[in-house]
Amino acid sequence: MDCNITFLPQNKTIRLKPGVTLLNAARRAGVKIATRCDGKAACLMCKVKIDSEYLAALHPPTDAEKRKLGSLLDAGTRLSCQAKVRGSVTVHVPEDPLKAAIRKQLERQQQEEDDWF
Ligand code: FES
Repeated sequence: MDCNITFLPQNKTIRLKPGVTLLNAARRAGVKIATRCDGKAACLMCKVKIDSEYLAALHPPTDAEKRKLGSLLDAGTRLSCQAKVRGSVTVHVPEDPLKAAIRKQLERQQQEEDDWF
């Protein structure tokens, strides 16, 4: 049976067979998740958050994922390149770190301009 995989905040849903990784599902849905190691559980850039009610919709963490994430697993963080789907799930994709840094810089500049006038 196919699984519905929804990515937030993009609000994109894709229907795929169980066994696909969240990273591959995101790519097929047109959702960008940052990576540097291209799915080898080395860079930790592909972290996503899963609400507790959906954790059972993913296969248990791999040994590599357990080693890399440690206690973050308890908070619902998974490596999208390692986490495989076995049921319908909603995935929270964090903002791209570079975009977040640029956004914060722009917000600081805007605040300084507002304070000036
Ligand atoms: S893509 Fe690098 S850890 Fe997942």
